[in-house]
Amino acid sequence: MGIYEDRLLPHLVDLTCGSKFLDATRERTCAGLHGRVVEIGFGSGRNVPFYPAAVKSVSAVEPADLGWKMAAERVAAATAPVERAGLDGQSLPFPDDSFDSALSTWTLCTIPDVAAALAEVQRVLAPGGTFHFVEHGRAPDAKVRTWQNRLNPIQKVIAGGCHLNRDIRGLVEAAGFEIRDLDVFYEAHTPKSYGALTLGVAVTP
Ligand SMILES: C[S@@+](CC[C@H](N)C(=O)[O-])C[C@H]1O[C@@H](n2cnc3c(N)ncnc32)[C@H](O)[C@@H]1O
Repeated sequence: MGIYEDRLLPHLVDLTCGSKFLDATRERTCAGLHGRVVEIGFGSGRNVPFYPAAVKSVSAVEPADLGWKMAAERVAAATAPVERAGLDGQSLPFPDDSFDSALSTWTLCTIPDVAAALAEVQRVLAPGGTFHFVEHGRAPDAKVRTWQNRLNPIQKVIAGGCHLNRDIRGLVEAAGFEIRDLDVFYEAHTPKSYGALTLGVAVTP
């Protein structure tokens, strides 16, 4: 990673993803997490306050050292132990069937080989394990999609490889998950190209 990705981007991510108006969406996404949890793209730990009491431990996967450092206070205040256990969602350092739940928030947009990451999440979840996600991605409306496709090349450069137009539902299904709950909506405070959210829970067969 370069200086921008190492030293500036984690602050930018924390500022944008840390907006208070996203808290309710985080809480919804985390509802039902339980047991041993793996969180990919942990960032600065913005989901930690929303882990339910049923969560027993969290293995955080995050490449940015600064993001992990910025999470320190939230990690210290967590109701379950949280450890940084991996650096790359595309290659998880855990045996098969290690977790009861997995979590990803605003991360599948950025991981370069997102299919590999989803295959890894599927592998490390025990049968019947739940994958909880909220991601921005391909909008339901054609007009918005046109803008997403136009803005995507710039977004990738300024936002550390973030894509605006990934088909989140399609990717999750293609990885072999069964979708249990799904909501696709525009986040009210964000321009539609950036705020087309897919929130759901998918289950390993
Ligand atoms: C937009 S941020 C979201 C952070 C956090 N999930 C949140 O909701 O605030 C995307 C995160 O994905 C992380 N990331 C990038 N590439 C990754 C990879 N290959 N594996 C895991 N995480 C990755 C980034 O470092 C960053 O923390």
